[in-house]
Amino acid sequence: MKKLTLSLSFALLAIASFAQSPYKNASLSDEARIADLLSRMTVEEKVGQLNQVNGGVLTGPSVANDPGAQGKIQLLKDGMVGSFLNVVGTEQTLATQKIAVEQTRLGIPLLFAFDVIHGYKTVFPIPLAEAASWDLAAAEKSASIAAKEASSAGLHWTFAPMMDMSREPRWGRVMEGSGEDPYLQGKFAAARVKGFQGNFDENHVLATIKHFAAYGAVEAGREYNTVDVSRYALWNYYLPSYKAAVDAGAATVMNSFNFVDGVPASGNDYLVNKVLRDKWGFDGMVVSDWASFGEMMNHGYSKDAEQAAIQAIMAGSDMDMEAGVTRTTLVKSVKDGVVPMAVLDEAVSRVLALKFKLGLFDNPYKYHDAAREKATLMADAHLAEARKAAGNTMTLLKNSDGVLPLNSPKNILVLGHLAESQDDVLDFWKGQGEHKYTVTILEGIKAKYPKANVTFIRSVSREGDFDASSVKEMKKAAKKADVIIATIGLFGDLAGEARSLSDVSPSDGQMEMLANAKATGKPVVVLVQAGRPMIMTDVVKDFNTVLYTWIGGTQHGHGVVDVLSGDVNPSAKTVMSFPVAMGQIPVYYNHYNGSRPHVDGNEGPEHFWVSRYRDIPNEPLYPFGYGLSYSSYEYSGLKISKSSINQNESVTVSVNIKNTSGVDGTEIVQLYIRDLVSQPVRPVKELKDFARVEIAAGKSKTVTFELPATKLSFFDQDGNVLLQKGAFKVFVGTNSRDVLAGDLELR
Ligand code: NOJ
Repeated sequence: MKKLTLSLSFALLAIASFAQSPYKNASLSDEARIADLLSRMTVEEKVGQLNQVNGGVLTGPSVANDPGAQGKIQLLKDGMVGSFLNVVGTEQTLATQKIAVEQTRLGIPLLFAFDVIHGYKTVFPIPLAEAASWDLAAAEKSASIAAKEASSAGLHWTFAPMMDMSREPRWGRVMEGSGEDPYLQGKFAAARVKGFQGNFDENHVLATIKHFAAYGAVEAGREYNTVDVSRYALWNYYLPSYKAAVDAGAATVMNSFNFVDGVPASGNDYLVNKVLRDKWGFDGMVVSDWASFGEMMNHGYSKDAEQAAIQAIMAGSDMDMEAGVTRTTLVKSVKDGVVPMAVLDEAVSRVLALKFKLGLFDNPYKYHDAAREKATLMADAHLAEARKAAGNTMTLLKNSDGVLPLNSPKNILVLGHLAESQDDVLDFWKGQGEHKYTVTILEGIKAKYPKANVTFIRSVSREGDFDASSVKEMKKAAKKADVIIATIGLFGDLAGEARSLSDVSPSDGQMEMLANAKATGKPVVVLVQAGRPMIMTDVVKDFNTVLYTWIGGTQHGHGVVDVLSGDVNPSAKTVMSFPVAMGQIPVYYNHYNGSRPHVDGNEGPEHFWVSRYRDIPNEPLYPFGYGLSYSSYEYSGLKISKSSINQNESVTVSVNIKNTSGVDGTEIVQLYIRDLVSQPVRPVKELKDFARVEIAAGKSKTVTFELPATKLSFFDQDGNVLLQKGAFKVFVGTNSRDVLAGDLELR
């Protein structure tokens, strides 16, 4: 009897596994499983996979056809949702995933996505600041910690890294990118992609290349505004960073809101099908930006929702985030034969491929472990990394009296709302970061100098208004102070999406506070907190100690004070030029020479008919790549190993750098080129390499770069690589302005 039962159960098992649908069979290839699943799906279910629905906080405008919370659950049960955004935490994501897996006909798991831009719960410095560290390993590390935290909280996918090259401090989103240089932008994009994605296990998240393409060129820095760039600019300035991220293996791409050549990016066949997929070989999934499929109607490109959905999918875009145009119209367009089934199948396959890649069909709940979430979020090791990262991003603009580092001050007067307000440290893209866990500058000072007498006077409000009644108190407190630390800038929530500003100068009130601080006669350290370069001209005219702190994340205050105290020797260098005045924007180092170039300082009648302002210089206040340290460096002996090379050769470029100070430091050494005569013309400088080099006090180092001829190439307006013979300049220096120069010929 026993034997019979056993063999019966074996038989049942065999029938069960035989009956198991191939798409559930982990031993088959992903391709075979996708093909099987597609063969079982209705058109409705296929379209459902292309539908991404917001399930939490709004990170865009609410849409007209929003089905509401209950409606969304019903859509999910009907197999009409492929992914949620903004549903976070193991509890919520698990409950939602269970509905998808256990209550839909085919049990297809969901993808959970969220904007994890610079940390999930442990917030790291904003990406623009992180880029100022020029530390790719640190960027990869911060992305991997962000991924670890996010994935422990049920998330599969982040909408990052943003890699929109931009020259626009008016644009609130420059904080999300890596500045004005395409090469550096690409390097950071690739590092972050690696950090986020790792090996696609449950400690990582899928990355998103965004916003494809050229969103950083929004006119006048106004959010959602027109982008109108030439194909030549597109290929040479804007596309390289996205390409670098494709090469780094990013799983998804997000369309941008803008149009390119008059065609909205979401429905732009040239961008998505031709460039991204055909030319670059990207085989991942393309998601819209928030409602961007539907917004093609606002552009005046689509007459209705139906046409918008058709234009998007035919251009190669796959998933509709929040517009609902795909969900409500595509079934009909496919059934009518307007959109071929093969096109739909391809788009759906790309969504399913991600779900198989993450192993969700075999273990749909592996990202939803509450104990893991608890142990991971804001782990001590993460906080320690965030603090280190913050210190590495602080950019010293001026220290001409040597006030910094502070020598164990006993009495410190701290001024300005931003020094004290936890609520104003974090920016809009803070993930799940909480203000209450954020270290302010005041807290950082007190922690670093526990024995010092620290007085805080707000003096200027969050909005930057001066409180004249604070002057008396300030004068009194200043009498016994060794140093005044005055904070100015923009409160955190002014950094991020939909936060464009027409003026990025410090407020009059902040300047008044500074003037009063100066009048006390005590040394003043000016700290600037902002997610973008501000107009610092008046500040640096009157003050000799200025540290740009950016927005340092959860450990902001510790990071700032680590630098003030000298525990961290600053090394960061800005990756956006600091304009002299608002009217100088856009100002950037890699500009063209133009027909009548002007060199600042050249006056007289022979310099009249030239490209210049009559009231301000052409050069920015601080150029790209600029930042000071407590060490000082001397560059000498630039050597280029050969004076001429052919297209298959390389040269080595070396330079000696001496740390002439008594402090060990890290110098960021930058290599630029200029193609002197070229058709089409090239910019006056282009970054081609860089190195972070530690140099001990009083010591010298020789830094050597390999410069292959291929780095002298550029693109024509169709994206073909051009490598033209002729004369080049090679520059090495401490920033994009102060360089040693040599010559190189390409034969
Ligand atoms: C709109 C933003 O442009 C995009 O970057 C973001 O990922 C989505 N909203 C989702 O929040």
